[in-house]
Formats: sequence, structure tokens, C-alpha cells
Amino acid sequence: MSTTYGTFPGSRPRRLRTSPAMRRMVAETRLHPADLILPAFVREGIAAPVPITSMPGVVQHTRDTLRKAAVEALEAGVSGIMLFGVPEESKKDAAGTAGTDPDGILQVAIRDVKAEVGDDLVIMSDLCLDEFTDHGHCGVLDASGRVDNDATLERYAEMAQVQADAGVHVVGPSGMMDGQVGVIRDALDQTGHEDVSVLAYTAKYASAFYGPFREAVGSSLQGDRKTYQQDPANTRESMRELALDLAEGADMVMVKPALPYLDILAKIAEAVDVPVAAYQISGEYAMVEAAAANGWIDRDRAIMETLTSVKRAGANMILTYWATEAARRLR
Ligand code: PBG
Repeated sequence: MSTTYGTFPGSRPRRLRTSPAMRRMVAETRLHPADLILPAFVREGIAAPVPITSMPGVVQHTRDTLRKAAVEALEAGVSGIMLFGVPEESKKDAAGTAGTDPDGILQVAIRDVKAEVGDDLVIMSDLCLDEFTDHGHCGVLDASGRVDNDATLERYAEMAQVQADAGVHVVGPSGMMDGQVGVIRDALDQTGHEDVSVLAYTAKYASAFYGPFREAVGSSLQGDRKTYQQDPANTRESMRELALDLAEGADMVMVKPALPYLDILAKIAEAVDVPVAAYQISGEYAMVEAAAANGWIDRDRAIMETLTSVKRAGANMILTYWATEAARRLR
């Protein structure tokens, strides 16, 4: 009854985990400040920043504090900023007119940030109507109340032009209208903005995790976005959206939300030869902050773990409300 089989492990992976130095040496994924992009909200007509209750630590900026936030992000090594405008309530209407007003809050903010940081930080803008419509949808509605795809595309073309005129480097169409990337590319090219890039929200799911964003942009969405954002059940649909966005001229593609869709992110990252971004959205932020505030998880570790996971899954760039803080920690 003598056998040596199985008495001791012949292979010991734990040897490579013995010390912080060893673990650091063999790490397969390294976050870098330049991986990070800071999404930021700027609200028209306020004298001081307004905290967003469901996103502790995130505010609706004044024009002034937005400039400061951009400088802080730049100094921390963050590579870009994604701007969202929050207009005065009285300026919202069915067509989202404030979104195409050259003096609308988003265009003003683009000019402000550009004046402050020039080309040192990549300035990106949300190209979508929901922040500017009184019904809160990402497009204009037809007579039956359904989001009218092609009429919305005309509005997006105008938005692309005014955002580019204001000096943005990258536009981020997030409305999930069919054909949006192509129409925006054409509009940019026809108005002398060939150098403005399109970051396509390629795989954008109809997610419960956008909840806190509604507070962040003061949106009073009627209904939901399920007729234009994707069903969480689907993978193949994302690959189809990807093919379309690339054919229409997307320079970069994005997956959103991040953590619940790492499988989609990994698939897209394998399939493309353009940079891939992932957006760690408001609800992902809120979830970690809320658990940490209760003492249920270690906040800093949880933040870095989620960011590392998103990068490991294949993202080149990560949009995260923790961008500046995480970049500082990585320095
Ligand atoms: C649409 C847009 C949304 C987000 C970014 N762009 C909201 C939505 O699609 O419902 C969500 C970002 C976040 O939740 O952090 N303009």
C-alpha cells in the first residue's frame, strides 16, 4: 500500500505571491493614470457646486470649479475629460434646443476647459439630447411619443458641429440611434472638423446602473430607454453594433456600463484594431461608495480592484468618476 502519489504538490503557484515585490513583478495588468478619463458635470446658472446625493464626492460643477477640476485631473496625469452639460430647467424643451445653442452650457464648458488646459488634456463631450430635452429622452419624439431615429440624427449632426466649433477634441455619441456615427462623421467632415474624433458608445446597455446619472443631470425621464439601448441579455447584438460603428467611421469604441459587461468588453477588445474604452458608470460608483460608507468593504481597494478588472478585460481607456483620485494613488 505504498504510494507517493499526491502527497505533496509538485507545482506551487504560491511562490509567486510571497511578497509585495514579487507580486508587483509578476502582475499582468498595470493601471496607469493615462488610462483614465474623468466624466464631469457642469451646470448652468449656479454660484457654487451642487453635490449629487447619490454619488457622494461628485458634484455638478460651476464653470469655475469645472476649470479647476480639469486642471487637477491634468496634474494627476489623467488623459481626458468627458463633459456633460446641465442647462437651466427653463431652457429644456422637446427638441433639446440648448444642446445646439453655441452659447449652451456644454459649448461654454468646452471653451472654458479648452482655454484652461489647451490640448494637454483630451476634451470630450457627450453628444446626446437627454440632458437638454424636457421629456428626458436621448432624441426627439414623433407624434406617437416614440424616439424618432432619423429626426434625431439631424439634431446630432448639428450638435457635432457646435461642439467641434467650441473646440472639443472627441465627441461621444451616447444616444444609441441607428446611423449616428456616420451622420456625425459626415457633419464633422463637412464643417472642416476632420480632426475631431468620434468615440462611439458601441455597446450601451439599458441599465439600472444609470440611476444616479439622472440626478446628476437633473433628468426627469419619462418611460425608459429600452427601445434604443441594448438588452442586457444580448452579446451578438453588440458585435453587430460594433461592425456598424466601425464601418461608419468610429475612431474608438466604448462599452457601457463596465463591470456587469466585462464579457462584452473582452470580446470587443479581441475583435478590433481601434482603442477600446469602458465607462464605469454612476451606479457602479454609487454601489462601491455606499457599501464603503457602511463599512462593508474597503473603499480604496474596491476602487482599484474594479479599475484593474476593467483594464484586464481589455479596456485601453476607462471613464471613471474616481479618475483624479485613482491617478494620484497610482503616481
Ligand atoms: C446619455 C448618457 C447617460 C450616461 C452617459 N451618457 C445616461 C443614459 O444613457 O441613461 C450615463 C453615465 C452614468 O450613469 O454615469 N446622455
